[in-house]
Amino acid sequence: MRAGPGHVLSSERSGLGNDSDNSDITDALRAEMPTRVPDRPDEIALRSSLMDTPDRRAALKATAVFGGGALVAMGAATAARGAASDAAPATHYGPASATGNVGQVYQRAREALYPVCRVCPQCDGVACAGEFPGIGGLGAGLSFQNNFTSLQRVHLKLRPLSGNRKPDCSTVIFGQKLSLPAMAAPFGGLDVNFPHLHDMSEAQYFDAIIGGCVDAGTMGAVGDFQGDAIALTQARYDVVGRYPGRVIAGIKPRPNPNFMQVLRLAEAAKAFMVTIDIDSAGRGWQDTAADTAVEPKTVAQLREIVRATRLPLVVKGITTPDDALLALEAGAAGVCVSNHGGRVLDHTAGTAELLPAVADKVKGKMVILVDGCVHYGTDVLKYVALGADAVLVGRHLWRAAHGGGRPAVALFMKTMRDELTAAMVLTATPNIASVNRQILG
Ligand SMILES: Cc1cc2nc3c(=O)[nH]c(=O)nc-3n(C[C@H](O)[C@H](O)[C@H](O)COP(=O)(O)O)c2cc1C
Repeated sequence: MRAGPGHVLSSERSGLGNDSDNSDITDALRAEMPTRVPDRPDEIALRSSLMDTPDRRAALKATAVFGGGALVAMGAATAARGAASDAAPATHYGPASATGNVGQVYQRAREALYPVCRVCPQCDGVACAGEFPGIGGLGAGLSFQNNFTSLQRVHLKLRPLSGNRKPDCSTVIFGQKLSLPAMAAPFGGLDVNFPHLHDMSEAQYFDAIIGGCVDAGTMGAVGDFQGDAIALTQARYDVVGRYPGRVIAGIKPRPNPNFMQVLRLAEAAKAFMVTIDIDSAGRGWQDTAADTAVEPKTVAQLREIVRATRLPLVVKGITTPDDALLALEAGAAGVCVSNHGGRVLDHTAGTAELLPAVADKVKGKMVILVDGCVHYGTDVLKYVALGADAVLVGRHLWRAAHGGGRPAVALFMKTMRDELTAAMVLTATPNIASVNRQILG
């Protein structure tokens, strides 16, 4: 793991000085996590002045020198600045100051996760490039970074004269109503990626992710790792079973007989849908455990899986129209446009760049999901405009879970929903079905 740079909170989402506005969720966060107070005012002053310079490298170096305690100080300094702007007129987020509370979650996540994750205000894959296993992108980290930059390049048209007052951002995926078109992305291999992170067990982690998503009116998820023993997988699905119909079961492209074993656990736990992250296939070629080693699939093998279950199967890791058509031919219920957060093949394009061509081929014929650096409600809106039916959220929910457990995950999703609603007002989109590329410009 590299030495530990970090960043201040973004002022938009900090608002840490706004304690009187905290909701029940924040009370729950406070009860769960003790607050650490910075003890070196000289460090605080130096660090906040560095953070105000454009020289990011100097700021990163300073973080490495002062370490984790100073990160807290940076947050406090930024919070003080944020508090002043909180005196501005009320925002769409109302008196509960939900965005400020997400800032608090990030602050706590930074304390829990540093240096595994610096909880950068812009989660762009730069500081953690190459940290794999870990939270970063593989190799030079360019696929992860391209996810970020391709989404930043998409612009929304501001159209405030539409009279569009109360947009409905709910949607229906596989017959289930979601409060917003965003769900958790499958995460697995936690012990391999984060061997030194002991703030919560795997079961506690998945319970936080799933419970928080359910509380926010959407779906949680679990992932998979090719080396996982069946007992560990069973324990994971014990958590899934507590939330019938509300969890995406992510299963690696194991050999079909082994895939079916995990599939049966997902069915018994009443999962909402199954994903097969076919893009993980590149990891199996040197694996000696032939009965579990991940493998690329043929259309016939995919079809065998589709026919073996009543659960909708989404093929995750699709980035081209041709592969989307093959998944359709196999009978898959959906595709997820994803490069696995840049963790399987470096130097791919970003998903916002890849999605439109896939949507042009299969929109309306199968469900289209996408992931890659979803952070704000505006990110959800952009991806839906580019052709997705819903997005998956990975790293940001992982941070939220570590920054305050289930209430923080729910808070993150609800904040994104509020941001999405505000963005829909201003892009003249009354509901999700009306969102299309016309709103981009
Ligand atoms: C630590 C880690 C573990 C992951 N595990 C899985 C997994 O088990 N199955 C899967 O389909 N994707 C997995 N992914 C990929 C995510 O589902 C998602 O595609 C990726 O993180 C991009 O979303 P993000 O940019 O919001 O993080 C994992 C990603 C990370 C960072």
